[in-house]
Amino acid sequence: MDKIVIHGGNRLKGEVKVSGAKNSALPLLFATILAPGIHRLSNVPALRDIATVEKLLTILGAEISRKDNEFSVEATRISSVEAPYDLVRTMRASVLVLGPLLARFGHARVSLPGGCAIGARPINLHLKGLEALGARISLDHGYVEARARRLKGAHIHFDLPTVGGTENIMMAASLARGTTILENAACEPEITELAEALNSMGARIEGAGTDRIRIEGVQELKPLEFTVMPDRVEAGTFMIAAAMTRGDIRMSGVRPGHLEALISKLRETGVEINFEENGKLRVKGPRKVASVNIKTLPHPGFPTDMQAQFMALMAMGAGTSVITESVFENRFMHVCELQRMGADITIEGNTATVKGVKGLLGAPVMATDLRASASLVLAGLAAENTTEVSRIYHLDRGYERIEEKLRGLGAHIERVSEPM
Ligand code: UD1
Repeated sequence: MDKIVIHGGNRLKGEVKVSGAKNSALPLLFATILAPGIHRLSNVPALRDIATVEKLLTILGAEISRKDNEFSVEATRISSVEAPYDLVRTMRASVLVLGPLLARFGHARVSLPGGCAIGARPINLHLKGLEALGARISLDHGYVEARARRLKGAHIHFDLPTVGGTENIMMAASLARGTTILENAACEPEITELAEALNSMGARIEGAGTDRIRIEGVQELKPLEFTVMPDRVEAGTFMIAAAMTRGDIRMSGVRPGHLEALISKLRETGVEINFEENGKLRVKGPRKVASVNIKTLPHPGFPTDMQAQFMALMAMGAGTSVITESVFENRFMHVCELQRMGADITIEGNTATVKGVKGLLGAPVMATDLRASASLVLAGLAAENTTEVSRIYHLDRGYERIEEKLRGLGAHIERVSEPM
């Protein structure tokens, strides 16, 4: 198994390009199920989660070819409607096949994702929404089975704004008969991008990016040609890397509008962030970061996907920071590992109190989920001596060539393969 070895202490300097967004590429790839023909997607990041979708679409009968970050999906001959446990288990977002399969073929069989490290993460709201669109849902051997001759538009009110649920319903309702109104919808940039992509396929979606989305169903859709937007979480992770190493970096391919909550908090800590005329974002870390409080919330609030990385930053803050996780119920697994590096963190319920320490100390640590592993890499960049992060398959799910990119910025970091 691979691990990442970091000799901390180098100040990051130079320029880095942000890759395509994982959380946008995933639903866009699933959207190809909605229409026969050849779909083309560019700026798709090379990640383990993307390879999982590739496998899943291939099992369904799609033919995929890929050249660097360009994907072409021939979706005409999709013949299976089943997403097997082995794949759904490794990537929860596989449940996004449900809406498109049901809408195009009237039938979908998808394994329930099961437990997940960062909380129970049920899919009840996805199912409730599809039922409202007229699907008959049953459970069989751990699989959700959904059937409907043709979905019918409906008025759906989500109990809470779910990103995946909103995406599933938007895709399904695009081919339904009549109008669907989705209330309390998620407002994440990935939702806006998916709506834009679906509209380019011939769908009629309005209001994406607000909490009320209106979808006028159409008879059929045409293939997708689209470029995936830059990854806001990867961008945020590099910003924190600069902040933690008193670095001075320039980033290209950033959409600052997607990062407002993070940028505003980073500025409060003393990080200098400037937009340059050439479209680049310059990030300069201060001598010592100030401690600030954050609470994760659905977009446009502070993103839960940046909580672990921000905690690593606060571990080196000048004072005390209170971090509240309100989106997922169990997303503090990085805390024990950060403590092994000398961080002073206590947890009570969904709140972590982080007392800044003078410096972090390198240690062997273990990645437990995707963003937790990023926080350990960040801590390693700033820590004294050597940090070894193991179980980095989590990291490979969501960060494209992270060690190469960090090395390009002057970090002393390498991937080491260990015999199994
Ligand atoms: C997506 C992102 C993930 C991010 C999360 C929140 C992708 C592939 N993943 O995950 O990186 O951390 O949004 O921004 O885009 N919930 C229910 N019932 C449901 C669905 C969700 O109770 O049917 C709950 C979840 O347990 C969680 C909250 O709603 O507490 C938000 O989850 P959701 O927005 O659905 O997250 P994902 O789409 O899984």
